[in-house]
Amino acid sequence: MQHVYFVSFGCQMNVLDSELVLGDFERSGYKQTDAMASADVVLINTCSIREHAEDKVWSLLGRARQVKQAKPHLKIGVMGCMAQRVKDEIIRRAPHVDLVLGTSNFRSAVQDLEDIGAGGGRVVRAAKRPDPEFLPDADRNVGSRPDAYRAYVTIMRGCNHSCTYCIVPHTRGKEVSRPMGELLAECRALVADGVREITFLGQNINTYGQDLHPERKHTGEICTLLEQASAIDGLDRIRFLTSNPFDMTEDMMRRFGEIPKVMPWLHIPAQSGSDTVLARMQRTYTVAQYHEVVGWARKHIPGVEITSDFIVGFSGETDEDFERTKALVRDVGFMQCYVFKYSLRPMTISARRMPDDVPEDIKKRRNVELLAVQDETAEARNKTLLGQRLEILIEGISKSDPTRVTGRDMGNRIVHCEGDASMAGRMAVVEIEEVGAHSLIGRRVALEDEAGRWTYRSYGHAVPSATA
Ligand code: 5AD
Ligand code: SF4
Repeated sequence: MQHVYFVSFGCQMNVLDSELVLGDFERSGYKQTDAMASADVVLINTCSIREHAEDKVWSLLGRARQVKQAKPHLKIGVMGCMAQRVKDEIIRRAPHVDLVLGTSNFRSAVQDLEDIGAGGGRVVRAAKRPDPEFLPDADRNVGSRPDAYRAYVTIMRGCNHSCTYCIVPHTRGKEVSRPMGELLAECRALVADGVREITFLGQNINTYGQDLHPERKHTGEICTLLEQASAIDGLDRIRFLTSNPFDMTEDMMRRFGEIPKVMPWLHIPAQSGSDTVLARMQRTYTVAQYHEVVGWARKHIPGVEITSDFIVGFSGETDEDFERTKALVRDVGFMQCYVFKYSLRPMTISARRMPDDVPEDIKKRRNVELLAVQDETAEARNKTLLGQRLEILIEGISKSDPTRVTGRDMGNRIVHCEGDASMAGRMAVVEIEEVGAHSLIGRRVALEDEAGRWTYRSYGHAVPSATA
């Protein structure tokens, strides 16, 4: 039995790509191991979005080299954004790496490792133009998933925007959408295998399908996909990310609100609350336009929760710019925000044209301050949920308290209540008794029984959701 030690960094798309590759390993008889020392293969799925993520990979590769010294048959592979971005440097700096797979052709991993094992020598597949023989999403092993009841499905890869700070257009290329029929077939296979909640992934889901049907212009093809997925029997919840403020229309929001299984949750990265900074980032919207998009969401999607991403310390960001960002966080009332310190990425527009001129200690301070504003706002909003009943899909035992289970409500809030492992995958109704900034705790007032499933039409919309 061969063992693979697999490490995954980065975004949800990487989480799913790792799952796809691990599904291939499983199909070929490999087992996963938690210990590098007992592995036959070390494979790292990498992220390039911030420098820190890449630093961690170099240090892991250092550890792998030591293990390989004692165990020469060990094969080491690097895949994902960093493999795509710095393949030449990896080849040069890390001669112990046998396999380098970019963002499009990583599904050849098992076959490549066999070839290397048979004496074929090092393999590098990180060309800009993907090899159609190894498409990233082909032939998914649907049965191989860490989570029995929830799954990700990648609907498109790449990004056509050019936000100045962002490496993604370089590492993942232009938008390529997967055909709707293929996506629906994958959803049906997942649902037949027990999945109740599907999250569609793309860097900018608003423009899903435009590359497949350029003649249709901006028709909200994503909504058609959601409508068709919503018709799948046995699928209870649909989510998607990332929604961007650009390429969004009021009509799309209205349709999101009308599709029964689409959950009232949107991830809409704002990045900054200052028009000057947004312009330097080439985000192509203003703060007023961001508010307009949020207004459409709140108008058309009852009880919608919005999460966001922010970058602090971007080139040229002044104290006043940062104050505006704090004001945006307060004004919108996000459920959750991810805050990142600006990290200069080689090859990006900002790396070429704009100085990384905000000192590290100020970036750090702004990061802490913005998170504090977010926590304060979120806690105040969550207090309005005290006494309300929320429907959750139970994921499993709580990590912090073994007498409790954890689930997510429709708005994607984390909710804990008393329970045991047998409840995983079932819906429950929880009356909220305690709230913090990041999660809610409550009393379970109803639990879906094992035989019968609740449908949203007959039950879900009767559960009061938060509006703030
Ligand atoms: N530095 C810091 N954060 C970044 N992000 C993207 N590029 C950078 C960068 N160079 C953040 C953005 C994006 C999230 C996925 O990562 O906020 O929405
Ligand atoms: Fe990067 Fe902007 Fe594309 Fe998002 S929309 S992946 S931030 S370039």
